[in-house]
Amino acid sequence: MRTRRAYRIPIEWDAIRATDLSNIRDDARQAHGLASYDPALVNTASCTSAITFIDGDRGVLRYRGYPIEQLPGRVRFLDVAYLLIHGELPGGIEARDWAAAVSSGADLPGAITSMVAGFPAEAHPMGVLLAAWSALGAYREASKAVDDPTVRAAEVPRFLGSIAALVGLVVRHRTGRPLASPAASKADYSTRFYRELFPAEAPPDPVLADALDTLLIIQADHEQNCSTNAVRAVGSSRVDPYSAIAAGIAALYGPLHGGANEAVVRMLHQIGTVDRVPPYIESVKRSERKLMGFGHRVYKSYDPRAKIIKATMERVFDVTGTSPLLDVALAIEAIALEDAYFIDRKLYPNVDFYSGLVYEAMGLPIDTYTTIFAAARMAGWVAHWLEGIQDPEQKITRPRQVYVGRDARDLGR
Ligand code: ACO
Repeated sequence: MRTRRAYRIPIEWDAIRATDLSNIRDDARQAHGLASYDPALVNTASCTSAITFIDGDRGVLRYRGYPIEQLPGRVRFLDVAYLLIHGELPGGIEARDWAAAVSSGADLPGAITSMVAGFPAEAHPMGVLLAAWSALGAYREASKAVDDPTVRAAEVPRFLGSIAALVGLVVRHRTGRPLASPAASKADYSTRFYRELFPAEAPPDPVLADALDTLLIIQADHEQNCSTNAVRAVGSSRVDPYSAIAAGIAALYGPLHGGANEAVVRMLHQIGTVDRVPPYIESVKRSERKLMGFGHRVYKSYDPRAKIIKATMERVFDVTGTSPLLDVALAIEAIALEDAYFIDRKLYPNVDFYSGLVYEAMGLPIDTYTTIFAAARMAGWVAHWLEGIQDPEQKITRPRQVYVGRDARDLGR
């Protein structure tokens, strides 16, 4: 309308290329053509991806085509990680080689153990994990060769072994236990991870080890979420993958993202009893606070992962005994699902609403929950990092801005 010129912009994959907008320009006024303004990337596809599909209106989540509901209990987390990273579930020999290569990453340099030990025990485990993971990259010099497929193939499985070992170390430090890693065993990845987290005198109950496996599976990937976008953006600079993944750990730490699992349980403790739920909900509706564990950028219906966690939680509580906070959580959900504020805004429980209750029932300290999420999400971060750096269209991520500052001015004499 400004120039009365007509433009043709092709539509591809139900999207337009934002770079095509730059052909729309008022030559007299603009150095660059039209840009799109989308500060939180609410309606901007930043890449193509073949890893995870979400239909947020219908509550559908699929990993490489498999519905999320079909995976827990039938496939173990380590095979799901292989699926996300390689595109197919592993066959017998592939699964064995994959597990062995993953295990090789669990051998952490002694300096990393000393580094974790140097933090105060009350330091937030996500801060410690972030620092230690970044430092680990300095010991894995070969990983800098991001364009070498042989190096990538050797490094990728080690990320999964390293994160489980590192989270175990951080949790043992947080809980004041000896830092030495448990003896290697032939148990599967999730059971060994369970042993990293909990004292040796508590042999893993199969229900709890399976619950951990389920939690790892459902938190393994979620397409272009905040932390995965961070990994892809930082990885686009061709930095080593440890540094790119450190960006993901930092993003996950935030209470609006993975840190919500901790924030939910703090909220439930703060509310305390069912009779205090209605006034709390009213304060949310007055915008005094957010209801943690509710709402999602993509899901405008019940998060399918929350359904799976809810069922898992019931099995865990059969073993551990129920939580006094469960009634508070159920009351919040019941009220919110009937209330116009939440219905109109399509706010439903997300993956973090019930996961913290499961971690609490297992006996983990509240500030360690997000470290478990990081161990799970490593699978997705690695899959997306690999996909991004092999995509010829994926240049260095460098968005535009709309400058709203002062015009040129002069310091004067
Ligand atoms: N409690 C109360 N109101 C909410 C909540 C909430 N949890 N979430 C969204 N809303 C309201 C907003 O205030 C807004 O209301 P308005 O239209 O009157 O202004 C409306 O719903 C739309 O919300 P947005 O802020 O536009 O949603 P956005 O997509 O930007 O944010 C997010 C998504 C960050 C997840 C948000 O729902 C939230 O903060 N939830 C609580 C934190 C949380 O549970 N995060 C974990 C998400 S899952 C994960 O990352 C692993």
